[in-house]
Amino acid sequence: MKVLLIGSGGREHALAAALKRDPALEELHVAPGNPGIALLATCHPCEITNNSEIVELAKKLGSDLVVIGPEVPLVNGVADELSRAGIPCFGPSKAAAQLEGSKDFAKQVMRDAGVPTARSFTCRTQGEIEKALDEFGAPYVVKHDGLAAGKGVVVTDDRAAALEHALLSSQVVIEEFLDGPEVSLFGISDGTKVIGMQPAQDFKRAFDGDRGPNTGGMGAYSPLHWAPTEIVQETVDQVLNPTIQEMAARGTPFVGLLYAGLALTMKGTRVIEFNARFGDPETEVLIPRLKTPLAQLLFAAATGSLDENEKLEWSEDSAVTVVLASQGYPAAPITGEPITGVDSPESAEIFHAGTTLRDGILHSAGGRVLTVTGVGADLTIARGKAYEALSKIQLAGSHYRSDIALNAAMAEKGN
Ligand code: AMP
Ligand code: GLY
Repeated sequence: MKVLLIGSGGREHALAAALKRDPALEELHVAPGNPGIALLATCHPCEITNNSEIVELAKKLGSDLVVIGPEVPLVNGVADELSRAGIPCFGPSKAAAQLEGSKDFAKQVMRDAGVPTARSFTCRTQGEIEKALDEFGAPYVVKHDGLAAGKGVVVTDDRAAALEHALLSSQVVIEEFLDGPEVSLFGISDGTKVIGMQPAQDFKRAFDGDRGPNTGGMGAYSPLHWAPTEIVQETVDQVLNPTIQEMAARGTPFVGLLYAGLALTMKGTRVIEFNARFGDPETEVLIPRLKTPLAQLLFAAATGSLDENEKLEWSEDSAVTVVLASQGYPAAPITGEPITGVDSPESAEIFHAGTTLRDGILHSAGGRVLTVTGVGADLTIARGKAYEALSKIQLAGSHYRSDIALNAAMAEKGN
């Protein structure tokens, strides 16, 4: 099988490594890729917002399958254009990607599908906004309707700040605050059937102790020993499958990765958000633990031939990933700094998230620079491996959280 993967982050690096392990894989191409991915695959320059460039590349390479990493090309409709060209694509159509592209659309689908989520109002005027804020009270949750690269959501006790954020967008969703641990749980769907993956937890705040601004994600771990054992089946039955059935019934089947961001509240599981693609950095802990051959799995989903009864095979090991971020991330990352100490660590896998080669030397090129994953018999061992590899990396001004999976590792040890 010849696979073309679109994207350039840590998620794509982890996907590339797993695709490469699949015995059915003949050629792996990535566009645009990054210096880490280039060690595994043939990278091609590509403007990922240009649909026809992606389609032409897939045709030129004779790709049997195109896997789309990030949300922007999906919301732009690249899957529709690939499908018109007769090329199987793992990733939803423009219409189905609205589950991520519009918070209001996602709420309508959840309502029609009977999927449990926070009560909400979609507001367009200041009057509607203020009424909704007062209906729910503090903490206020305000979400811009469209794609916002993690910057569209504000959760605050400050009513004036909530109102100010709401007025920045022409349409907002204001919803009830959900209290409880957050879990990311992904389903792989071929449009009518869906297979649940294991849950992971990510850390969205920039600094230790869940302080500081929201980010794209500063680390993650899997599995979650503290989560109810039935969480995967329950999420498939109550969230993923009803959503897939609703999208199919609307004539816009969802083919690809349905990401459910869940809150485990006292009243039960509630959906916080949907995404239409693999999460980052959750992928960097899930995919290294997946034993099922990935290229064949994604091809089956892309071609409507998933075996619903297939049980994904997982390693018993635990995985912890920690993101090394540039100075100033997330507000104003400083990039273009040299990076050393990343060469073949024994203990961990280093996935490149925002790097570039300049005169043969690795430099930072994004807010999130590297995602370092340790895998081991338990979370404590996995953490130790990730943090040991991180301690050897030098990047001026960079920062990372020191408490990724710390509480879960201590709970596992019974402390
Ligand atoms: P989202 O982009 O919708 O995932 O929101 C980003 C983050 O904001 C989530 O991971 C949560 O931590 C927080 N958040 C979003 N919606 C709610 C909610 N209804 N209640 C509490 N926290 C929320
Ligand atoms: N880790 C959060 C996301 O991928 O959106």
